[in-house]
Amino acid sequence: MPSQQTNAPSFVKNAKLIAWVADMAALTQPDNIYWCDGSDEEYARLCQQLVDAGTFKKLNPAKRPNSFLACSDPSDVARVEDRTYICSEKKENAGPTNNWMAPLEMRATLQPLFAGCMKGRTMYVVPFSMGPLGSHISHIGIELTDSAYVAVNQKIMTRMGKAVYDVLGADGAFVPCMHTVGAPLAAGQADVKWPCNSTKYIVHFPETREIWSYGSGYGGNALLGKKCFALRIASNMGRDQGWLAEHMLILGVTNPQGKKYHVAAAFPSACGKTNFSMLVPPAGFEGWKVTTIGDDIAWIKPHADGKMYAINPEAGYFGVAPGTNFHTNPNCMASLDKNVIFTNVALTDDGDVWWEGMEQDGGGLPAHLIDWQGKDWTPEIARATGAKAAHPNSRFTVAAGNNPALDPEWDNPAGVAIDAFIFGGRRSTTVPLVTESRNWMEGVYMAATMGSETTAAAVGQMGVVRRDPFAMLPFCGYNMSDYFQHWLDMEHKLEAQGHTLPKIFCVNWFRKDAAGKFVWPGYGENMRVLKWMIDRLEGTAQGVETMFGVAPLFDELTWTGLPFSAEQFSTVTSIDKAAWAEELKLHATHFEQLSYHLPQALLDTKAVLEQRLNA
Ligand code: OXD
Ligand code: MN
Repeated sequence: MPSQQTNAPSFVKNAKLIAWVADMAALTQPDNIYWCDGSDEEYARLCQQLVDAGTFKKLNPAKRPNSFLACSDPSDVARVEDRTYICSEKKENAGPTNNWMAPLEMRATLQPLFAGCMKGRTMYVVPFSMGPLGSHISHIGIELTDSAYVAVNQKIMTRMGKAVYDVLGADGAFVPCMHTVGAPLAAGQADVKWPCNSTKYIVHFPETREIWSYGSGYGGNALLGKKCFALRIASNMGRDQGWLAEHMLILGVTNPQGKKYHVAAAFPSACGKTNFSMLVPPAGFEGWKVTTIGDDIAWIKPHADGKMYAINPEAGYFGVAPGTNFHTNPNCMASLDKNVIFTNVALTDDGDVWWEGMEQDGGGLPAHLIDWQGKDWTPEIARATGAKAAHPNSRFTVAAGNNPALDPEWDNPAGVAIDAFIFGGRRSTTVPLVTESRNWMEGVYMAATMGSETTAAAVGQMGVVRRDPFAMLPFCGYNMSDYFQHWLDMEHKLEAQGHTLPKIFCVNWFRKDAAGKFVWPGYGENMRVLKWMIDRLEGTAQGVETMFGVAPLFDELTWTGLPFSAEQFSTVTSIDKAAWAEELKLHATHFEQLSYHLPQALLDTKAVLEQRLNA
């Protein structure tokens, strides 16, 4: 397709963009090119188109106004980490935790797959800003996709539309994000509801800052602003430019005197990040307020005033539905009352949505549903077959503006100043409820050795402990040990400039007792731990030294409104010497796997922990 046939609207002035669209159209051969303007009218039109195509079902407007349900192909339900590649020039720069292929070889692999892949379809040009439009922390991406589902999701998940072109101007830079479901249509061939391909490639070229995604229409595989750009590509930008792109929620917490703190917290996928970011303080915390800046990703840049400022590069939440209810996350449930795209949850007989966990809101189990695969579901069928009504990784896509706990600063182009980092995994044993690192180095060690029992957010085995350093294992776009070094370098850079570093805490909400039951109540009750962290920031809680950082004394947590005994507290905070001896052996194995460029300081810190354990 010659460049004059891209039909670029007059408000698109960027010659590089127009030429790229022309090249990509020549390669993929779509029937049409549609330049998204991000308007509400366009969103409504594309949603109606998806309804007409059978991809969307419009939900009952009396129950869920302006909301839709999409059910994917059963083979396309999660991120595909084994098909995700970091194609740096040198293999060692992708590191041992990433799949790698030489860029030339990967380009040669992708070329025939992308050739003609959009035949019979429309190519949507989706302009988006990760971060507030025009913020010095933000970056622009352009996604070319043959999925209208992706275009409407990107309208919610990013600042998407015409205004991006004004920021881009005639010669601004953008990250090219190429996406296809990999399902061209021959003339007259009928489409399916969820086109995709059994061959999948989620590819990043870090040096040229490009993303190429083939074969999946789902979540992080297809909404390329999120994991591909805001984490894998942005982590490369951050390393080169001296900032951090992190798999972290950002929240504000305001005490009854009106003093506000900001916390950024990293947890692996589906460990309750959205819940924590929207936490409602429990009884006993009258006058305290928690507000959401972001639920998944933080871009953090050091500033001349000595602080680290964070923005949420996203504009919406793509959260896991199952388990979300009025007990675990009331603010989220309130966010979902209108203008939502649901994917792979179940449909009720009155045209609303349902997922596992909602029964705890008082209604019990519905007598009948259509499950995410379009089959009849009843409690009897579920008991007999174990069938889930909603897929365990089913999702909602909703704009941040729907969240009643949205922080007033969430869209501030300057970001918010971070007071503390939290790192947490899902561990049924060993790791205590909360400890504070004695210094930056120990905090980086805690984050670098984090482990978590796996969940449904990625395809793979469930319930196995895998090391997930900084919750970045599937998202760090370069060699993990170089990433550790980048975090260590931050300390020296900031201190040399006289900066105060945020404190670092390690948490684990998931310790179980001998009977295999969770002991810590979690959810809103995590406020008790958050308050202790603030007391540590203020210097009003003394804590007690353990081999793995400073822990709270029982009396330092506020217990009003929660019956929790000293014995239970000990179950979730105790350091089991034998378990830690084993744990440190696993750290050693983990470090062996990351030995290329592993900072010696981490091994030295491990030696100190061993001495403490044996003391
Ligand atoms: C997510 C994930 O979807 O981490 O946020 O998998
Ligand atoms: Mn995530």
